[in-house]
Amino acid sequence: MHHFQYRDGVLHAEDVSIPSIAEAVGTPFYCYSTATLTRHYRVFTDALEGLDTLVCFSAKANGNLAVLRLLGDLGAGCDVVSGGELKRALAAGIRAEKIVFSGVGKTTEELTLALENGVGQINVESEPELNRLNGIATELGKTAPIALRVNPDVDAATHDKISTGRKEDKFGVAWDDAPRLYATAESMPGIEVRGVAVHIGSQITDLAPFETAFTKVAGLVGDLRETGIDIRTVDLGGGLGVPYKRDNAAPPSPAEYGDVVRRTVGDLGCKILLEPGRVIAANAGVLVTKVIYVKPGETKEFVIVDAAMNDLIRPAMYDAHHDVLPVSEPDAGAPKKKMDIVGPVCETGDRFTRDAIMCALNEEDLIAFSTAGAYGAVMASTYNARPLVPEVMVNGESFAVIRKRPAVEDLWALESLPDWMADDTQG
Ligand code: LLP
Repeated sequence: MHHFQYRDGVLHAEDVSIPSIAEAVGTPFYCYSTATLTRHYRVFTDALEGLDTLVCFSAKANGNLAVLRLLGDLGAGCDVVSGGELKRALAAGIRAEKIVFSGVGKTTEELTLALENGVGQINVESEPELNRLNGIATELGKTAPIALRVNPDVDAATHDKISTGRKEDKFGVAWDDAPRLYATAESMPGIEVRGVAVHIGSQITDLAPFETAFTKVAGLVGDLRETGIDIRTVDLGGGLGVPYKRDNAAPPSPAEYGDVVRRTVGDLGCKILLEPGRVIAANAGVLVTKVIYVKPGETKEFVIVDAAMNDLIRPAMYDAHHDVLPVSEPDAGAPKKKMDIVGPVCETGDRFTRDAIMCALNEEDLIAFSTAGAYGAVMASTYNARPLVPEVMVNGESFAVIRKRPAVEDLWALESLPDWMADDTQG
């Protein structure tokens, strides 16, 4: 459930009409709903009621400071995967001990930053990383609280590019190697072994792979404890999918996911860390854009909008579908047309919908791409010298710009000409 609904035929975010935001900030822009983020966070935590958990929102899904602060105020910690995300989470006011640091390629600088700030857990993904971390911690006179991220070799049956728990994926330590690495870690002076971590992928719409992976993790915790290693946390990662298409069958609910968590790892006596991103943020955000031209084509119309693949890369990168909501609600019987909704970027892949049958759109019409609150603004680029678009947060009747639209000159503000080039232009 989300708070982007029509009122008197006009799309609203909570109590604010989308056209009023467009008027104030221009298009395109991302718009997030406080009520939806709050609701999704609560539905997720309610599903885990009775378990000892820490929900670490995955900053990679949406790292805006206001979003992190909102979720932090509700009690969330943060899952980060770079020094930048770590600093972001801290800047948003998330306490270091509620931060989990994952990722296959943490640098010496990033590991040092994590230790100096006292993050709650570092999820180590390889033996070389373990050695590096031990060295850094020993030098700093600290012990690093770690989990090993294990690769359970489970196929999450999701898009190939976001499946992370198969043997052939780069993530985690090999399942069969885990006991040896735990023993090594346990013997290291700079390492304090806390837990087992797993993350099998994203946009997972079937609970079976979670069940298989979590059951394997529970077995590993038992085996490790038998060897005298005290495992106190299990980190189950993120990955629960969301509905992208209104008409499709809904993916499993957080409550059903919570039941799997309870059944598999609920009795271990461990603190359970979870790293949801998409399920909290995706349907809490839309990308609003304006029609520039409607171009008749030979087989269909091209509706050219002012947002493009650089603003929302998911359709181009994963063939992802985002429902299109015309900001003015079309009449029920309005005639429909076949169209592609495309952006201005010079690539055929800059296409949001292909052969969509939709109500006619006209120049200046506003439309919103739904389910854009996760992996939207964070994945944007300035390709084709298009400045990043603003982000707006709505709360009841109020809205605030939570990331400004930069000036186009900002795009080259860090660039400079080498001194062997003449100051004045040629020509
Ligand atoms: N934890 C770890 C270690 C992760 O790698 C991820 C996502 C998450 C948690 C959060 O997963 P979620 O709950 O959001 O599914 N850009 C892609 C998604 C990439 C996901 C990467 N890892 C997309 O737009 O579909």
